[in-house]
Amino acid sequence: MIKQVLVAMALAGGVTAPAVGYAQAGKTASADAPMNTFVSALMKKMTLEEKIGQLNLLTPGGGILTGAVVNPDVESKIKSGNVGGLFGVIGVDKIRQAQELAINGSRLKIPLIFGSDVIHGYKTTFPIPLALACSWDMPMIERSARVAATEATADGLCWAFSPMVDIARDPRWGRVAEGSGEDPYLGSQAAAAMVRGYQGKDLSADNTLMACVKHFALYGGAEGGRDYNSVDMSMQKMYEFYLPPYKAAIDAGVGSVMSSFNDVNGVPASGNRWLLTDLLRRQWGFKGFVVSDYTSVNEMIAHGMGDLQAVSALALKAGLDMDMVGEGFLTTIKKSLAEKKLTVADVDRACRRILEAKYKLGLFTDPYRYCKPERAAKEVLSPDKRAAAREFAQRSMVLLKNRNNTLPLKRGATIALVGALANNRSNMLGTWAVSGDAQLSIPILDGMKTVGGTGTTILYARGANITDDTLLARNANVFGEKVDIDPRAPQALIEEAVATAGRADVVVAVVGEASEMSGEAASRSDITIPQSQRTLLEALKRTGKPLVIVVMSGRPLALPWEAEHSDALLQAWFGGHETGNALADVLFGNYNPSGKLTMTFPRNVGQVPIYYNMKNTGRPQPTTEFRKFTSNYLDVPNEPLFVFGHGLSYTSFSYSGIRLTGKTMSPGGTIGATVTVANTGDRDGEEVVQLYIRDLVSSVTQPVKKLKDFRKIYLKKGERKDVTFEISVEDLRFWNNDLKWIAEPGDFKLFIGTSSANVQEADFTLTK
Ligand code: BGC
Repeated sequence: MIKQVLVAMALAGGVTAPAVGYAQAGKTASADAPMNTFVSALMKKMTLEEKIGQLNLLTPGGGILTGAVVNPDVESKIKSGNVGGLFGVIGVDKIRQAQELAINGSRLKIPLIFGSDVIHGYKTTFPIPLALACSWDMPMIERSARVAATEATADGLCWAFSPMVDIARDPRWGRVAEGSGEDPYLGSQAAAAMVRGYQGKDLSADNTLMACVKHFALYGGAEGGRDYNSVDMSMQKMYEFYLPPYKAAIDAGVGSVMSSFNDVNGVPASGNRWLLTDLLRRQWGFKGFVVSDYTSVNEMIAHGMGDLQAVSALALKAGLDMDMVGEGFLTTIKKSLAEKKLTVADVDRACRRILEAKYKLGLFTDPYRYCKPERAAKEVLSPDKRAAAREFAQRSMVLLKNRNNTLPLKRGATIALVGALANNRSNMLGTWAVSGDAQLSIPILDGMKTVGGTGTTILYARGANITDDTLLARNANVFGEKVDIDPRAPQALIEEAVATAGRADVVVAVVGEASEMSGEAASRSDITIPQSQRTLLEALKRTGKPLVIVVMSGRPLALPWEAEHSDALLQAWFGGHETGNALADVLFGNYNPSGKLTMTFPRNVGQVPIYYNMKNTGRPQPTTEFRKFTSNYLDVPNEPLFVFGHGLSYTSFSYSGIRLTGKTMSPGGTIGATVTVANTGDRDGEEVVQLYIRDLVSSVTQPVKKLKDFRKIYLKKGERKDVTFEISVEDLRFWNNDLKWIAEPGDFKLFIGTSSANVQEADFTLTK
């Protein structure tokens, strides 16, 4: 085999690998042998400069740039073997051209790897990840990644900077939009589903992408919800709540990991050897490569870790393999080698991991494997992807309130549709839709007209600007105009909306954030609906017409007024290209909503951080009433506005009590817990049946509930189903202060229900 590989290389005058499918699951050491042989042979031919070149990831600009830096002279750097990969190059033709520079222009013809932020869909844009998570539908989440991979690979890409799995308990942080919310169990399921969806069974297939789990680690713990801020947490909290989703992605075989901007235990993640080597590789067995975040190596200078040479050496030694944009590796590693601050083995290790990734992707067999224009023509923005986008968006919306069955809307009615977001294309995609063309979005007004049909009258009025705060508008408009200010006076807009409402049977007000009011570098200290829209809502309320409030946002907002004064409240998030159709499907009842919140909605920002899996404290408040000297606030209840797991349907479900197969469980045994769920309303619908567990006595304080399982079931009206969960000792474990994953004998409570608060209870004991 060695001979064969070398012959092939010699004949081609470059590098060609035998065509082998690289299945990531269940691979053995012997399965890696041809790859190892190939990479070793190639590395023997490489100069030190060429090896360092592989560690360099550049962006020539053109996509959305998140740091201040863009790389100059990319073309000449590729030709001189100074580049391992590119991102921010969009389109099959451009990617092919760039690959040709490496193949025809560089000495060893090593193919480039092409990455991109394929976050929620590619050119066909799906709902933001936080919304997708609210479907609690893991097969669907997997499918969303699969569809995105099909489209992105047809357009030249082979590497996605996704899934983002940062657990977040602070809705001030704008990047909560990109993750799955606050829960480690749900977040782990979603992380694994996305990795499976992107990577499929064979990474070298031309329709699978290498995934990149990010941001490793703890980025969601940023203090005060301020982006890029410091993170400081106990090891126990880290292991119990924040690390599991990254681990789940590793276990699912993710090919790459992106280090985060923040520090972990006082050392920035990109230079943190404990994190990138001891934990990631030694404890978790990760075999792929680690890429930095955008200039995060250089940013260690500002963190106070030394100059560019020092931080680059720190990163490489720590186990970081590829330097995104900053060029610190490219410009300083040789000097550090000369000064014996690094060894050639440090360079070789990183270089090998990157070449292995390229091998697994099949790039050595065919560098143009992902560059087939006929596939691009067929797959990119194809109708089946639009259909999937519509379905994903329907399933991601969460019905928070529905007094007197205000929803679904009745066909034949006259509906006043109000709000700047209701007739808008530029805000439908949400944050991190770098390849999505906002102009291809279906505005809500259009969707309402189409789905409402000819007998239904839709009247539209803008009513208010998204915000009248020019500073907020300016800060939200960095990627183009998302907040436009109507030249008319605010009062004139409101009067027009009120007059429109006066002619209607029901008002649907679409309010919330502009798409770039959440996402990266989009933290907010005030998470209410901007005042301009609130004033509009108050005026609409005074008309006395039934008021449906639809909220678009990339984070949980504080909505106490809206919850109290609306007749129906629907959290629509940012739904992607098909927002208008999908929202109309839900509002008119073509789709019966089934989403459930995966992040707690606070009453006000002062309750933040707020999450369901909190600890009890020594002074829990016994009831919802204020009680002096218990853990509470003087001015707001402890309870959130909407709990984790909450979400209504147009039908209703009832739960029987829990039937256990026994009251005791031995460490090697299991307990079955069954509830009967009945659809007691007059429509077919889906319910997410949630299982939580509480450890009542333990050596480390435990949360009042931990999600341990869930099932999404479909029930026809009148139908009932038994749902059975099997609980084993694995579900009872926690991380103790010695960082052991243990279960302690004793009493447990088990909860099954429709949300984290609305549950049935049962007790059992784990025996010794
Ligand atoms: C973000 C990453 C992203 C990268 C490349 C960074 O600013 O934090 O999530 O993948 O840019 O676009």
